[in-house]
Amino acid sequence: MKKKTILTGDRPTGNLHLGHFAGSLKSRIKLQHEYEQYVMVADVQALTDYFSNPQKVIDNILEIVADYIAVGIDPELTTIFIQSQIPALAELTVYYMNLVSIARLERNPTVKTEIAQKGFGESIPTGFFCYPISQAADITAFKTELVPVGEDQLPMIELSNEIVRKFNRLYNTDCLKESEAYLSNVGRLVGIDGKAKASKSLNNAIFLSDPPEIIKEKIYTMFTDPQHLKISDPGKVEGNVVFTYLDAFHNDKEEITSLKERYKNGGVGDVIIKSLLNNTLQKLLQPIRDKRKSLSKKYLLEVCFSGTQKAKNVAQKTLNEVKEAIGINFSEKNGL
Ligand code: TRP
Repeated sequence: MKKKTILTGDRPTGNLHLGHFAGSLKSRIKLQHEYEQYVMVADVQALTDYFSNPQKVIDNILEIVADYIAVGIDPELTTIFIQSQIPALAELTVYYMNLVSIARLERNPTVKTEIAQKGFGESIPTGFFCYPISQAADITAFKTELVPVGEDQLPMIELSNEIVRKFNRLYNTDCLKESEAYLSNVGRLVGIDGKAKASKSLNNAIFLSDPPEIIKEKIYTMFTDPQHLKISDPGKVEGNVVFTYLDAFHNDKEEITSLKERYKNGGVGDVIIKSLLNNTLQKLLQPIRDKRKSLSKKYLLEVCFSGTQKAKNVAQKTLNEVKEAIGINFSEKNGL
């Protein structure tokens, strides 16, 4: 039986951290065995933010690919590719742009939030404004059936499906396929400061490539329970970042449950829970860091080139079908 196709992507704007690991990376490692998986380095989409500083995007492409492979995404099982090297994605975007109104783009809640955050005022760049259409091209080019993403990406999948339906109806074809979101049950990982989300820009994340001393330092600054001053004081577990991380990364659930009980009753100091977390994360991250160091630039480039070549062929096939459906598939063979 043919495996279902699954596609995800990341903007290469920084190294990956534990938030990515608990969320998307762990599920990709599992999904690559069950699905035909594509993972896209979304450099074109990253440029919608960083067009005036492309070096930031360029520098992070191989970094992110190194992170993928270091955590266990296997290039033999997963097609890792670079968005900018696939012209068919840009071409599909152009055809899809005819099918989407400006008002429709303005209604996208994720884009709305981003517009407010970025303070564009009256000068929203068209490239940024249209990135959901380009994302629909990414999704449809591979006849993707499932898109594993966080909730903020649901409006993108909705738009993509609207484009598919409109295109198929208008050009009397079934060449494009609708896709479905695959929401993983792991929520967002909180930042080490207790803020809702671990992120590079908030400077509150532990990176997969962080050296051991930095990991330890970050753990020791973690937010616990501000009322827990003396070891004998009863401590709070809810909202205590150290426990949130232990829940996410410690394998022995029973040990954590009993530690939580003792912490709540008083008598367990923050140093105890922090050093347990430190051991846990050092054990988790050391092999990832070692693997990362062993990957040569040459190897990473080979992975990108071969994945991109494969993705290019698949996307080109869809583009041909799209042009055929519209009626603009001119060639010597077909004539004008
Ligand atoms: N917008 C996604 C993000 O910021 C990245 C992305 C680009 C993507 N193209 C995609 C995700 C296609 C899934 C499918 O995380």
